[in-house]
Amino acid sequence: MKRRVAVIPGDGIGPDITKEAIRVLEAVAPNTFSFEYYKAGGEALDSVGVPLPDETLGGCKKSEAVLLGSLGGPKWDTLPSHLRPEKGLLGLRGGLGLFCNLRPAILYPQLKEACPLKNELVEGGLDIMVVRELTGGIYFGKRGRDEESAFDTEEYTKAEVERIARKAFVIAQGRSKRLCSIDKANILISSQLWREVINTLSEEYPDVEVTHMYVDNAAMQLVRRPQQFDTIVTNNIFGDILSDEAAQITGSIGMLPSASLGDGGVGMYEPIHGSAPDIAGKDLANPIAMILSAAMMLRHSFGMEREAQRIEEAIHTVLDEGYRSADIYSDGMKKIGTTEMGRRIATALKGEK
Ligand code: IPM
Ligand code: MG
Repeated sequence: MKRRVAVIPGDGIGPDITKEAIRVLEAVAPNTFSFEYYKAGGEALDSVGVPLPDETLGGCKKSEAVLLGSLGGPKWDTLPSHLRPEKGLLGLRGGLGLFCNLRPAILYPQLKEACPLKNELVEGGLDIMVVRELTGGIYFGKRGRDEESAFDTEEYTKAEVERIARKAFVIAQGRSKRLCSIDKANILISSQLWREVINTLSEEYPDVEVTHMYVDNAAMQLVRRPQQFDTIVTNNIFGDILSDEAAQITGSIGMLPSASLGDGGVGMYEPIHGSAPDIAGKDLANPIAMILSAAMMLRHSFGMEREAQRIEEAIHTVLDEGYRSADIYSDGMKKIGTTEMGRRIATALKGEK
């Protein structure tokens, strides 16, 4: 029986990069997966009038993992909020119970020039794992508006904080055993609860060194001394903001993947970047974030650690050879398109074993 993967190529460059991720998966593990394609986001709005058709959510629930390209674009930006493509994404996260979002921000040595920070701040590299709570807080809290006012609610239960914290502790254990929890406990009661739960749990993980930081300070520290961070755990909205900042200091949003996990069950894998409609279909997009997301899928949903590493090594090989997509191009390198990047990575895989 083949392993079932639901694929949502989505909008903009989504289909371009998804094709390359599938090419690489078939090269690293031939005849292992069956891919079933579904619609969400703008494409689903255009064809059936909703951002997340029942068929898509149902199909994802029946598969073992979901690979998602990117959703949204200016064409759908004027729709009311319940019909925006982003609703499709939140519906998938909530509907599949994906409360744990992993966003690794890694500065590739081959791309150090792309980092906007001073060289001395990132000497020896950057490797930060942002663990973002994904199905609670202000994204999913009560909201409302009338003519004169509007509100959104930040609310967390102890159980919600505990389950994301446990994931973060385990991830920190597998890394350098340093966990920084980021909140706004000087102001928000929900953050005070968050901090309390982290402190209580830390007794169960005595090998992990826990620190707490206010989110405003964290935003500053990320650009002041990024190497102080290893594993970060934070709520949904702070995680959204800080993961963009962490991505930017690696200089290459086109390189960064993500995994969204629940307790067992289906995992969803997508690049951090958006749908870049201006370059869609032009063979210009960088498929590496999507290919790295496929590697995360092998690692987290299928226990195929070796294959995941082989993909990561193949990407290093192609970068070492000087091949670059337009977004990471610098003088003296060899500029190539989406398809050639995918092909080269697939070929480099065969060379390794
Ligand atoms: C992200 C995005 C989404 C979010 C949007 C598109 C709903 O910014 O995945 O970081 O806010 O979570
Ligand atoms: Mg975001």
